[in-house]
Amino acid sequence: MALTNSTAIRVELGGRSYDVLVGRGLLDDIVVQARPFLGPYAGRKVPIVADVNAREHHGKRLARSLASDGYEIAWYDVAPGEGSKSWESLERLTDWLLDLGITRSDHVFALGGGVVGDLVGFACAILKRGCGFVQLPTTLLSQVDSSVGGKTAINTRSGKNLIGAFHQPSLVLADTQTLDTLPDREMRAGYAEVLKYGLLGDEAFFAWLESNGPDVLARNREALTHAVATSIEAKARIVAEDERETSGRRALLNLGHTFGHALEAETGFSDRLLHGEAVALGMVLAARYSARRGELAAADAERAAQAIAESGLPSEIANLDMKCDGKRLVDHMRHDKKMEAAGTLPFLLLKGLGEAYMARDVDLGDVAAFLDEQLKVPA
Ligand code: GLY
Repeated sequence: MALTNSTAIRVELGGRSYDVLVGRGLLDDIVVQARPFLGPYAGRKVPIVADVNAREHHGKRLARSLASDGYEIAWYDVAPGEGSKSWESLERLTDWLLDLGITRSDHVFALGGGVVGDLVGFACAILKRGCGFVQLPTTLLSQVDSSVGGKTAINTRSGKNLIGAFHQPSLVLADTQTLDTLPDREMRAGYAEVLKYGLLGDEAFFAWLESNGPDVLARNREALTHAVATSIEAKARIVAEDERETSGRRALLNLGHTFGHALEAETGFSDRLLHGEAVALGMVLAARYSARRGELAAADAERAAQAIAESGLPSEIANLDMKCDGKRLVDHMRHDKKMEAAGTLPFLLLKGLGEAYMARDVDLGDVAAFLDEQLKVPA
């Protein structure tokens, strides 16, 4: 079978290094692309844990490719939504994998967005003290962010992603064809994370996105592949430098997330505001707050806001109709995982477009006053 054209991006982590392949049609070729991880399944079924929608759209392509080498699939369906990242789902999934007789040298395949990737990754981190897994991300957000870097987790009543492990996949296949069927709103939400890579560390990429964002969102093949590959290259570099988020380098990936998390909490982590939309608003707030501190030119903060607005993402919290004040949003921030025992919360801010840094001297009272102003900005 002919190999699909793809770009390989290496995540350099010593003995745990792996490739992220980006290309159109990679799933049609899975039997070739994932060959090293399929061998042990001769005479057994290949376990694929799938978001039900992703299975509906891409299941046949996987089955056809695997059947060409005689493999059959054992499917496990996961309902869409954060509700599937629960203790109950984890228990059901690990029981299923144990019943299948998964060994430590086997690889489980995760087909879908961040929910499936996080759940399967965590199950594989703890199953028999660790087995392998392959990420087959089918959303823009999971291709450019969650499938790369080994953060795996489930949610608990105390919050999102509070129980988890760093467990790197052995391979990621980012098939850009899967984005053809992604709803526009989810595409835009994933695009917020693409813009994030430009804003946090690559001004030239940000400028490229200002001009080419509409093509990326319209799924122009060349533009989309460039945007996905450039984002993954940035993520791979950062993960290689700071795999476990201990030096502060990986924390830069949280640009927009502290403000964004407060907005998600206020809107009930619901469809009212998708994660990527909250990150988009969070990045506008981080840019404007940086300008308020005199660290970023006000014109640059508005350039960031404009790039976000022009891509169809929400950019003004005043338009969310949240009926809350800045203090209430700051109270949500106090529950952030990053909150320190001393009562300080590190904030990712901008010194320039393409230059994020972590500020540890942010006064939460001042943040509340800033948010009060932003909540009043006219539509
Ligand atoms: N999504 C942020 C990270 O992987 O560190």
